[in-house]
Amino acid sequence: MDYIRVASVNDVAVGQILPIEAKGLKLLLTNVAGQYYAAQRKCPHMGFNLCRGKLDGPAVVCPLHKAKFDLATGAIERDPKLLFINMKAKSDLTVYPVKLEGDAILVGV
Ligand code: FES
Repeated sequence: MDYIRVASVNDVAVGQILPIEAKGLKLLLTNVAGQYYAAQRKCPHMGFNLCRGKLDGPAVVCPLHKAKFDLATGAIERDPKLLFINMKAKSDLTVYPVKLEGDAILVGV
């Protein structure tokens, strides 16, 4: 695994979800109360862009069918739902380790 510099701490404010790329992977980077998380950008349900999602604590909620994923583990916290129709996310969210070097944010891919 290589750690790739993807942003500076000044680039991603608390509560912001930023699109980033590392080794050709399209990811999201977010800052939850000073803790940084990186994950795949596409929702595992139907591929919606999770950069357009909302944070709920250390979890991201997809705006399309409201599936919720833990950003630390990638685990599904809530399956997608459309009105009264319950659906299943195809898999957990793939998450990536993040570390800081000075002001630089690095993601392990
Ligand atoms: S595409 Fe994300 S919950 Fe359906």
